[in-house]
Amino acid sequence: MVDGIEGPAPESERTPQPFDPDELSSARVYDYLLGGKDNFEIDRETACQMLSRAPELKVLVWFVRSFTLKAVERAAAAGIRQFLDLGSGIPASPNVHEVARKIEPSARVVYVDYDPLVVAHCDALLAGPPGVAALLGDVRRPRDIIDQLSERALIDFNEPVAITLSAVLHYVMDDEHPADIIAAFRDRLAPGSYLAIVHGSSDSAPEILQVLAGTNNTSAQVTFRSPAQTEAFLAGFELFEPGVAPVQEWLGPDLPDTSMVMLGAIGRKP
Ligand SMILES: C[S@@+](CC[C@H](N)C(=O)[O-])C[C@H]1O[C@@H](n2cnc3c(N)ncnc32)[C@H](O)[C@@H]1O
Repeated sequence: MVDGIEGPAPESERTPQPFDPDELSSARVYDYLLGGKDNFEIDRETACQMLSRAPELKVLVWFVRSFTLKAVERAAAAGIRQFLDLGSGIPASPNVHEVARKIEPSARVVYVDYDPLVVAHCDALLAGPPGVAALLGDVRRPRDIIDQLSERALIDFNEPVAITLSAVLHYVMDDEHPADIIAAFRDRLAPGSYLAIVHGSSDSAPEILQVLAGTNNTSAQVTFRSPAQTEAFLAGFELFEPGVAPVQEWLGPDLPDTSMVMLGAIGRKP
């Protein structure tokens, strides 16, 4: 099964080209929504279309980040010392290494993204301190990433690792085998490792799904999935409460619902 996911070179398959201002980039759209400055006109246009249907998106992206950082805190508090942020995005403070290192100053963190612009930003802003690195890698080629991490001694897969895949898997189409991608990482992880994912939900409002359909045939194309499909990605992990749930539910009792629903889940490999 996993053999199939390492198939053709992804360069031709919805992969961002280096610094192309005419190509929509999910990393730059997200950067704009988070209030960043590393985006182009085409990204802002798409973000504004989404915001015109769902102005609360600006808040939702911060809920997503809060969920992800909370997962990092939880893993660090449980004694995990290695963190792998897959599809890390353009840096937005606080970042994974800042949060993990508050709890464990020696924590090792690797940021991986397939967008060269993201990796350039990570290199410039994040990769200064020893034990923090940025890697160009495509999650659709998990073995390439695992090999690079092992060969460069960035991650020791004999020890627990916390993997975050926050708002990334919905960019992986069904025929790119997202479950097999997770299985490839899961099978290399030591017991006690964590996996936290955030995934766009098909329970989002129809007008949101309609706007997202405008990303089809770009490198930012998305497939939002149901809670059951999202839960299936965590096969082989024990889920923490509240299971697969909108990220707001993980953060507190009184946060508002949003018309775009982002599901969060955290699991532990037994
Ligand atoms: C919406 S952003 C989320 C960024 C960050 N994880 C967060 O939650 O703040 C999605 C990121 O995933 C990256 N991405 C999408 N598909 C990817 C793939 N196949 N391999 C690696 N990175 C990918 C994009 O380049 C982008 O930086």
